[in-house]
Amino acid sequence: MTIRAVVRGVGHYLPERVVENAEFEATLDTTDDWIRSRSGIERRHFAAEGETTSDLAAHAARTALSDAGLTAGDLDALIVATSTPDLTFPSVATMVQDKIGMGTGFAFDVQAVCAGFIYALANAQALIASGQAQRVMVIGAETFSRILDMTDRGTCVLFGDGAGALVLEAAEGAGTPADRGILATDLHSDGRHRDILYVDGGVSTGCSGVVKMQGREVFRHAVEKLAETAHSALAKAGLTEDDVDWIVPHQANLRIIKATAQRMGLPMERVILTVQDHGNTSAASIPLALSVGQHEGRIRQGDLVVTEAIGGGLAWGSVVLRW
Ligand code: UT7
Repeated sequence: MTIRAVVRGVGHYLPERVVENAEFEATLDTTDDWIRSRSGIERRHFAAEGETTSDLAAHAARTALSDAGLTAGDLDALIVATSTPDLTFPSVATMVQDKIGMGTGFAFDVQAVCAGFIYALANAQALIASGQAQRVMVIGAETFSRILDMTDRGTCVLFGDGAGALVLEAAEGAGTPADRGILATDLHSDGRHRDILYVDGGVSTGCSGVVKMQGREVFRHAVEKLAETAHSALAKAGLTEDDVDWIVPHQANLRIIKATAQRMGLPMERVILTVQDHGNTSAASIPLALSVGQHEGRIRQGDLVVTEAIGGGLAWGSVVLRW
């Protein structure tokens, strides 16, 4: 018998304000056509004034709980993947714990930038497999609009705000790839590349800073590494690309997503795409896409899902799960 971390509920939240590409044309030397053709992004959501990452996360968490038919008191642990916490501390996770009325258990944040949700899923899976928790809420939530330099056309047109959440629950499996739940994880980081994508603020600087990115360099690493980590995770699960029903990639750039699918030998019909409507929401992008995929009736129970992401650090990885 193998203890698996199985998805019991999913939900997401997007701030009300939608920012179309055309809005940037008024203040920047850019065009809707450039943004669409280079990134696939058409619009994104920006949080309202005063709306924080923990607010977005709490909305997504409530929706996921309702989808699971559970209440906050049923959770043992809550993990938030984010790089845009409301404050340096306490964690966004403890703020969400309070907002959703989870009076027991424990909560903590994971910071692995755009790969954050992959890292958080791996942590949740380990907590469940080791018997330390039965039910874990895993949230990816970001307000990247707060750390954008709105005069830097190379970054500010790419990112958006949002949150997505999964409730994972311990279930007995047979220990085969036919089990539901997380089947394998594959995590990597390489701090030698920390300067190609970073925020120039933080505790050592006295300000929260803005995103700095060498886009072309990050692009190169992404195309090289994402199909590779997905392949490793599939191999660990005893599966191959032929077994995949859905790729749910980090939604940074349509060209990266297409190149990765091509390297995996899978058609774009097997890819859940939200980048056109959400932009790059960093750690929130995968749970947002999972939630949209399920709510559109595309991802169904029993489907084999591969998620993969790369971001600042560099940190990257993949999770294979049967929905
Ligand atoms: O989620 C974390 C991981 N992040 C990513 O995966 C992002 C990875 N990188 C990318 O998605 C792409 O590199 C970008 C979308 C950021 C840029 O696309 P690119 O095809 O790599 O363009 P580029 O950076 O090579 O820039 C091409 C040109 C440059 O002009 P010159 O030097 O050729 O004259 C840029 O200055 O496009 C210019 N440019 C723009 N033009 C109009 C850069 N941003 C813009 C813009 N509008 N917004």
